[in-house]
Amino acid sequence: MWNTNIPKEEAERCLLCPEGPCTAACPHGLDPAGLLRSVRFQNIAGAAGRLPADNLCAGCPAPCEGACLRPDGPVRIRRLCTALHKEKEGMKALGGDSVDLSSTFCGVRLENPFLLSSSVVASSYEKIARAFDIGWAGACFKTICDFIPREASPRYSALSGGNGFYGFKNIEQLSCDSLEEDLEILRRLKRDYPTKVLIASIMGRDEEEWTRLARLVEEAGADIVECNFSCPNMEQDGLGVDVGQSPEAVERYTAAARRGCSVPLLAKLTPNVGDMRPMARAARRGGTDGLAAINTVKSIMGMNLDTYATSPSVRGLSGVGGYSGKAVKPIALRFIWELASDPQWPAPPISGMGGIETWRDAVEFLLLGADHVQITTAVMQYGLRIIDDLLEGLTLYLREKALTRVTDLKGLGVENVAALEDLERESILLPRFDRSRCVGCGRCALSCRDGGHEALTMRRGQPVMDPAACVGCHLCVLVCPVQAISGFGRRIGPRGCPEGRH
Ligand SMILES: Cc1cc2nc3c(=O)[nH]c(=O)nc-3n(C[C@H](O)[C@H](O)[C@H](O)COP(=O)(O)O)c2cc1C
Repeated sequence: MWNTNIPKEEAERCLLCPEGPCTAACPHGLDPAGLLRSVRFQNIAGAAGRLPADNLCAGCPAPCEGACLRPDGPVRIRRLCTALHKEKEGMKALGGDSVDLSSTFCGVRLENPFLLSSSVVASSYEKIARAFDIGWAGACFKTICDFIPREASPRYSALSGGNGFYGFKNIEQLSCDSLEEDLEILRRLKRDYPTKVLIASIMGRDEEEWTRLARLVEEAGADIVECNFSCPNMEQDGLGVDVGQSPEAVERYTAAARRGCSVPLLAKLTPNVGDMRPMARAARRGGTDGLAAINTVKSIMGMNLDTYATSPSVRGLSGVGGYSGKAVKPIALRFIWELASDPQWPAPPISGMGGIETWRDAVEFLLLGADHVQITTAVMQYGLRIIDDLLEGLTLYLREKALTRVTDLKGLGVENVAALEDLERESILLPRFDRSRCVGCGRCALSCRDGGHEALTMRRGQPVMDPAACVGCHLCVLVCPVQAISGFGRRIGPRGCPEGRH
């Protein structure tokens, strides 16, 4: 959808300043900072739609660019806005049909599918209240326990690239407030925001504690209780992921939490298993109403080549910790699909998470069977304000698809993930070359020669394909830096290309 020629690299260069000086400098009252952010978070239609009919940037001396804080030259805002204008002209009118982003999850009404997940982003009254004020539908409070965990410093590490994290590691445990303090925050939030969904994440150390915590958070106003069977960072053995890797423990502690509360119960599961379904089934036997996944992926990162320490290094030592953010999304999607397609529990209620930054990411989760999504790492990086583009992008997508309810998306893609043995393996889909886009860099031929099947050679500055050698792997499609190769060429049958050479 919306195949655009927007210079997205300009949005990638934007520093995403909270108080964009470009916006303050715009003589036309536009919001270039907001437009850049929307493009960055893949809400291009939303950005284009917000521009006025006339291109006010044409002929403007662009004081916005003069105000840009980027040290290596300003973001070319005028170029981006002009491209957005073209996009606006080409966009078909989507109509003003209202779409319904609300849903009912285990009997609880959500005004839209975007929630904060249990972590530091949902660890205080102020943060959650701010989130509710600007449109988040709910929040899963930082895991509540009946002890004060001792945290390490530093506790985060990131694999960064461009202007953001690919992946993020943390070694943080649970809420550092006292139980009574956390219960009081829940009470205040429910009193002040009765229509928002408050999920209380809990972790007990034995059955009695699971039951008691579930009861206390329900009494404090939680709409849903989420059992944390998945934190990989616990200082003490037998908690978090240790529970989530044992169906017996999952069932026993789910049942214990079930005894303590009558509101819907979720089991938050760990990706640090080969197959999540035995855990989901165990949680169901214990009385859970739904599932939440994924928690973070066990990881080691940031080996220092001088000190030989990994990161985050706490006086030279680190530990295996939880990986989250963009890099884990494919892992999360696999687990969401696995849960959604379990024949023993068809289409269970799923709260999906892991690496979601944009509305497109969220839709992927819904298509594979999640009912709504939770987010942490993107909020840690970019702030609560990402909700604007999540909501607008999703709304425009539904309109473009002529769907009226977000719930219509649930599971639409589940059937399209098949067992590998069910894939057709007789024919080959050749790549197609767009000669007008090709700049003759030769990357496709290099990769095909050294990492593919030696089907491409460069002749007179253009790739030439030998269809008899091409196996249709599409490595060339993926490495082309100017998107001049697409994966939609001719499909040829088992006896080779009927039309000879390309
Ligand atoms: C700093 C940090 C703290 C977290 N703390 C908790 C927690 O207390 N309880 C919990 O269930 N999950 C916790 N998580 C996991 C997140 O809720 C979420 O499952 C995971 O990060 C994947 O989502 P994301 O990629 O959007 O961050 C934490 C994650 C991070 C990054």
